[in-house]
Amino acid sequence: MARLESINVGLPRDVTWQGRTVHTGIWKAPVTGPVMARRLNLDGDGQGDLGGHGGEQRAVMVYQLESYRYWEQQLGRDDFVPGQFGENFTVTGLPDSDVCIGDRYRIGEAVFEVTQPRVTCYRVGIRMDDPQMPALLVKHHRPGFYLRVIAEGRVDAGQDIVKIGAGPGRMSVAEIDALLYLPEHPREQLARALQISALSPGWQESFRALDRQRTAGGNSGLSAEAAVPPPAWSGFRALRVSEVHRESRSVVSFWLAAADGRPLPAALPGQFVTIRLDPDDLGPALVRNYSLSGPPGGGEYRISVKAEQRGMASQRLQTSLRAGDTLSVAAPRGAFVLTDSARPVVLISAGIGATPVLAMLHALAAAKSSRDVWWIHGARDGADHAFAAEARELLGRLADPRAFICYSRPRDDDRLTVDYSDAGHVDADLLARAGVPADADAYVCGPLPFMTALTAALIDRGLSAASVRTEVFGARDGLSPGISAVAGRRPHLPDGEPGAGPSVTFARTGLSVPWNDRQASLLEFAESCDVPVRWSCRTGVCHTCETALLSGAASYGTEPLEPPAPGSVLICCSRPDGEVVLDL
Ligand code: FES
Repeated sequence: MARLESINVGLPRDVTWQGRTVHTGIWKAPVTGPVMARRLNLDGDGQGDLGGHGGEQRAVMVYQLESYRYWEQQLGRDDFVPGQFGENFTVTGLPDSDVCIGDRYRIGEAVFEVTQPRVTCYRVGIRMDDPQMPALLVKHHRPGFYLRVIAEGRVDAGQDIVKIGAGPGRMSVAEIDALLYLPEHPREQLARALQISALSPGWQESFRALDRQRTAGGNSGLSAEAAVPPPAWSGFRALRVSEVHRESRSVVSFWLAAADGRPLPAALPGQFVTIRLDPDDLGPALVRNYSLSGPPGGGEYRISVKAEQRGMASQRLQTSLRAGDTLSVAAPRGAFVLTDSARPVVLISAGIGATPVLAMLHALAAAKSSRDVWWIHGARDGADHAFAAEARELLGRLADPRAFICYSRPRDDDRLTVDYSDAGHVDADLLARAGVPADADAYVCGPLPFMTALTAALIDRGLSAASVRTEVFGARDGLSPGISAVAGRRPHLPDGEPGAGPSVTFARTGLSVPWNDRQASLLEFAESCDVPVRWSCRTGVCHTCETALLSGAASYGTEPLEPPAPGSVLICCSRPDGEVVLDL
């Protein structure tokens, strides 16, 4: 009979880690006497980062004494105490290889259901004083698991754990964990996993993404980059400017063609290219991303550049780039792409944010799509309204499109109902007037506050968070789970002696820095420059740090459990092999 050996609780606290403050609830200590198990927590327990831990699906964490003994041997340690692995219940007799998702157990007065394996995260490495721990738990098939509280009640250490129900599908915690994080994702196993309603929604979403993956390499359950085909070429390639066209007061388009005249590989609608401007009389080397705005699969690429007052690259392109010139261009990339579906599609943009969604509109028009299409765009006025005639023509090829054009400051000669449909901004009220349906796929591009507001408004209208996709121009927001915010510093050269290594370019940030061998990884190097980065496990498991490697090569100190998508790199466990350009 399985037994509850120890109940461990702890409230979040601040700990210092690598000079930063981490707010974490991973320190748990044993309690004596009965403890109330409630829907969201044991009494006296809490989590520091509810985005990654806690909640109804992850109310109680379980780890096994047998695994304690295993790790004592593996790691040569004898200093473990109850709660060492951040678990609430230390148990005997519930191995990850036997316990199945959906199994139900009664302990004392309460009833629990197994929902998912442990979330791999760097905090277990902090607690164990071993940064490799997140990867080891997965690699050795000993992650531990979470319980949902089905019936609240008191539990006490020493009580028997009585199995009262078996999960459908009979998929063990270890099997489910390996199915997501380790290479090989057999479709038959994915199908079985997706039948288990007790599996937490986040894991179900990951398995659905893996099931849809048709590309080789990478893990689309962990990173959207793996869901799109690999880049058509590596590094930068010289393309010829075939045509230059002014689209509006501030936007100029450049058509790019292969130097040998052959058609360029098709991009997916919504993808972007990275261009590199070499240093010249007009300024230093610059690397920038531009969404492709033209018809996908047309044999040439079109980028559309808005002149920004302080935009060094846009000024240079608009003032000096002419038809016949060449430009260094990396292959189309990005996971902000129109997905195949019969659902209604809503394309929302502001200003130059029209570019990727215009490529999607091209794709819908070319396919004579029968999907219901909403085209919603905001501009300042008619002079700033790029692609007006082009979008109108494309919409005209669709069966029953809905178009809403908002001018925030229409000029006297801008014609209401002809040039624009609404005076004002694209906002929640407009979405309501437009009748955007709850079962739509939405693609949103524009300034960050615009996308934040529109995403919230779309979710308020009933769209699921997964069906609202956004595209960020420039640096993306970082994700540093549990790290307490400090006054932000703009990206900068690292403090102290500069490195003597090859140049590392952060394309979105616009920073090139010589690599410093003092840093253990590209992630640590980016952090030393305050470049926004996203990460969770820091040991090559979760793929949160997966980043497009636009040029150059990197190698891994410790190989990740599963390689990232071709053309991408896991920056938490890699170092550059020469000059690199990262999409950061
Ligand atoms: S942060 Fe998890 S793989 Fe890099």
